[in-house]
Amino acid sequence: MALSFLHLTIVFISLFFLGGANAKYFNLVNKCKKTIWPGIYSGAGLSQPYDSGFALAPGQTYLYESQYQWTGRIWARTGCRFDATGKGKCATGDCNGLLKCDGYEGTPPMTVALFSVDTPDDTYSVDLQHGFNVPVSVTTQGGTGQCQPSACIANLRRKCPTGQRVLNRKGRPVGCKSACDAFGDAANCCTDPFTAWKCNPTNYTKLFKAACPTAVTFLYDKDFTCKGSNFTVTFC
Ligand SMILES: *[C@@H]1O[C@H](CO)[C@@H](O)[C@H](O)[C@H]1NC(C)=O
Ligand SMILES: *[C@@H]1O[C@H](CO)[C@@H](O)[C@H](O)[C@H]1NC(C)=O
Repeated sequence: MALSFLHLTIVFISLFFLGGANAKYFNLVNKCKKTIWPGIYSGAGLSQPYDSGFALAPGQTYLYESQYQWTGRIWARTGCRFDATGKGKCATGDCNGLLKCDGYEGTPPMTVALFSVDTPDDTYSVDLQHGFNVPVSVTTQGGTGQCQPSACIANLRRKCPTGQRVLNRKGRPVGCKSACDAFGDAANCCTDPFTAWKCNPTNYTKLFKAACPTAVTFLYDKDFTCKGSNFTVTFC
């Protein structure tokens, strides 16, 4: 009894100090009028977080603590219905019909918050390369460097060109595909011959950029850096 208590105390103290040194916190805030179902995906072959998908009611927040040197994405799924076993479907951002994304990157269109942290800087952006579903902003807390917010606050569902618009069953616009996802052409996807410096904004990505100047709209667009900060990801 005494031993296990001591053991737990040591574990707690170690977690406290290790956590304090390395942990990175992402405060997810739902300012939308409806429930969203955030998805969290780890890239670069990292293990998936246990909290890879869950519901977040309007006004609720969720604190995600990433592993050290985490690379991945956070996005909102909308219009979801799940049964008691966590199976169902979402209108946007769907993870193969599962509540827990657990390795699924989400089905576009969706606004993505992209991160690559502790390398040793933190690189981040609100990314529209897989389209738009809800407004998202990423801000930093603490940290040093430029640490500027990246956001897409404008409602691109309304400003979406007809060929990129995604409607739900009731005919309401729920998302806007990126030009690359909608047309798959080399100029919009920055594929051969439009690679590296030959890849430029197109009429389509320029439309997104005009509405959301601090969002990433094509592969070689500018992203953001900070060092040693935490993050807030606000939906709507
Ligand atoms: C990040 O958040 C954690 C937990 O709230 C806190 O202990 C830490 O000091 C924060 N770091 C910065 C740079 O604000
Ligand atoms: C892009 O915009 C330019 C200038 O407004 C126009 O001349 C051109 O036809 C447009 N291209 C496409 C693919 O819409």
